[in-house]
Amino acid sequence: MDLLPTIDLSPYLEIAPKLSVEDELGPELSKSCSEVSRILRETGALLVKDPRCTAEDNDRFIDMMENYFQKPRDFKRQQERPNLHYQVGVIPEGVEVPRIVVDEEMQEKLKAIPKKLQPSMPKGPDRKWRYMWRVGPLPSNTRFQDFKTEVVIPENFHGWREAMDFWGHKLISAVEVVAEMAAIGFGLPKDAFTSLMKQGPHLLAPTGSDLERYGEEGTVLAGYHYDLNFLTIHGRSRFPGLNIWLRNGQKVEVKVPVGCLLIQTGKQIECLTAGDCMRGMHEVIVTSRTIDAMKLATEQNRSLWRVSSTLFAHIASDAILKPLGHFAESPSASQYPPICAGEFVKREIVVNYRKGNKGES
Ligand SMILES: [Fe+2]
Repeated sequence: MDLLPTIDLSPYLEIAPKLSVEDELGPELSKSCSEVSRILRETGALLVKDPRCTAEDNDRFIDMMENYFQKPRDFKRQQERPNLHYQVGVIPEGVEVPRIVVDEEMQEKLKAIPKKLQPSMPKGPDRKWRYMWRVGPLPSNTRFQDFKTEVVIPENFHGWREAMDFWGHKLISAVEVVAEMAAIGFGLPKDAFTSLMKQGPHLLAPTGSDLERYGEEGTVLAGYHYDLNFLTIHGRSRFPGLNIWLRNGQKVEVKVPVGCLLIQTGKQIECLTAGDCMRGMHEVIVTSRTIDAMKLATEQNRSLWRVSSTLFAHIASDAILKPLGHFAESPSASQYPPICAGEFVKREIVVNYRKGNKGES
């Protein structure tokens, strides 16, 4: 598979909001919803085009993040909050350790994969920086108060809050539509996922990798891992390098067309579908295509920081993660016992910490 199929969200956006719960979607839209769920199930990823999230919006966000990430290390470390477990502010390079480095079980599993399909083995922590920014309201009454940490704004970045919230809300809107279409495609009520996402601890978490320092072919920028949240969404990066693993084990270098968004499945959707839709495994490395993009950027006098405009969409912390609807009858449902989403995230983070990874994903 050279290119993942792209789903245009416009027809659904035009019609679905006008329909009542009882109204039928019609054959074309029903087919699109089935496509969304099929692609997520088979690939763990999905390319979408949302007319509300333009290439220009993505460009403006990436421009600001390039500007931030290329600031001196000492400046950026003023936004570091290790005492808050890096839940807000900047995570410097060398802090997030990919699970594959420390998880012996995962390493064993990978040995069974043919060599050419294996991920690149990172030698240590990730080379990427990341900025953590909460988006959207959190519940006033919650068992998980520690998600309610005040945001961090770098000095002299006028309009930072507005730019982060603008892009973050756009991505949440896109992911909500995909979640609705996927629910319909999986044979669940339209709001099966979105009702659980309301007031979730969604996190805009753009990354920045300095290709001037780490631009050698084969360098691992983000080692092989899965995301612990529901669905992850990103705009197109200016530098390629993301590899994903399909359900059938095939390794695919993702090519995101201009103006499109990329969705990836996290571990929470796996729980909600009893493993019908699995978490997507992925890595970011410097490939020959990354190097081609670096040459072009150098010729055009552009930044060599690789920014990903990532948002982690979460299930609300107080909601219960368990197989939904007909998935509760699936033979694999017993592998996904009910758990509060906030508790689930805590456990994943604790396991990651124990294994040396201080990141969200
Ligand atoms: Fe990830």
